[in-house]
Amino acid sequence: MNAVLLGYGTIGKGVEILCRQVDGLDLKEVFVLPQFVDLPYFSNNGEEMVTREDTDIVFECLSGTEPANMLITKALEHGKHVITSNKAVVSPNLERYVELAKKHGGSIQIEASVAGGIPFLDAVLKLQKLEDIDGYEGIFNGTSNYILDQMQNNGMALETALKQAQALGYAEADPTNDIEGIDVFYKANITNMLAYQTKNDTILPPLGISKLNTKDIELAKENGKVIRHIARSVQEGNEFATIIAPVFLSKDNYLANVPSNYNAQLLHAHSFDQIGYFGQGAGQLATAQAMLANALDTMDGTERAIDLKYDKKVNNDLLKEDWIVRSGKDLSGLGPDKAEDGYFFFEKRSPDLIGDVQKIDADAMIALWK
Ligand code: HSE
Repeated sequence: MNAVLLGYGTIGKGVEILCRQVDGLDLKEVFVLPQFVDLPYFSNNGEEMVTREDTDIVFECLSGTEPANMLITKALEHGKHVITSNKAVVSPNLERYVELAKKHGGSIQIEASVAGGIPFLDAVLKLQKLEDIDGYEGIFNGTSNYILDQMQNNGMALETALKQAQALGYAEADPTNDIEGIDVFYKANITNMLAYQTKNDTILPPLGISKLNTKDIELAKENGKVIRHIARSVQEGNEFATIIAPVFLSKDNYLANVPSNYNAQLLHAHSFDQIGYFGQGAGQLATAQAMLANALDTMDGTERAIDLKYDKKVNNDLLKEDWIVRSGKDLSGLGPDKAEDGYFFFEKRSPDLIGDVQKIDADAMIALWK
């Protein structure tokens, strides 16, 4: 089969390397922005590349939404098999891409867009055909996990750890997306659509790790806990809810023991209670191999179809949790169950608490306490 590649950054270069290892897959051309065109193999005519008669597979690893969205749309309209790692473009557009793939006989495959090298979406897509997925929780951002790990184990400052994560190629072009939870917001939206077979509905804005400081790290240690950044989601009937936030976890929790930039997930369903996944959620070859796994499925004619057949709605009351808030403001009006040393503890409260706290103190550190 013939393939073209859109984007020649960290992931794109990884796709190029791995394509050479697959018999029967011929990488013909690479789309780059005009300023980078310096070899015959590169082109800035992406539209021609993705619509050409002899193109079968389009690997898309541009960052951001345009021209990625335009090129994916054109490719799908021409019946191509689109394989993308770009969660920012998939999260708001997946429903339309699925319809276009169905209409024109191509496919949209997105394994690498969530949890990088871990075959997590593959497991989700298989499982949801068998039974309802009750929910999931997991670490979906390697940069945040790397930073928290360095802060907790090596006493490093957040900014220093972030610089290291950027140098190692884990962080997004704009690392705000990593430390404010936006990257995980896209990934949770995508996971929800696939796990619950539903069209997108608006989940809560994410809480990232940027408000955490060394005092919080000390408090976690004193209480036998470890802080991790987690997405937690549940489904009941036609409703679901998702929280993206830092969590003070007991040291013996599976997710508390995920080191460095690794990702991990737990899937919950009736037949097995829970199953865990662990691996590299970012990085060149880890992410590229997930894209090549999708290409191998296409070459075998065994792509996992995505069907968003329901219109389920978010109900945040499904997730009543225990919370910890650090604030210099007076939060007693919100009825905390305990308050000491600038920390407020709230038990079994819906995530509406986040908005209530932020109305009083936009800079408060808000996290789950498990
Ligand atoms: N910046 C992301 C991370 C890359 O750190 O996990 C993978 O999506």
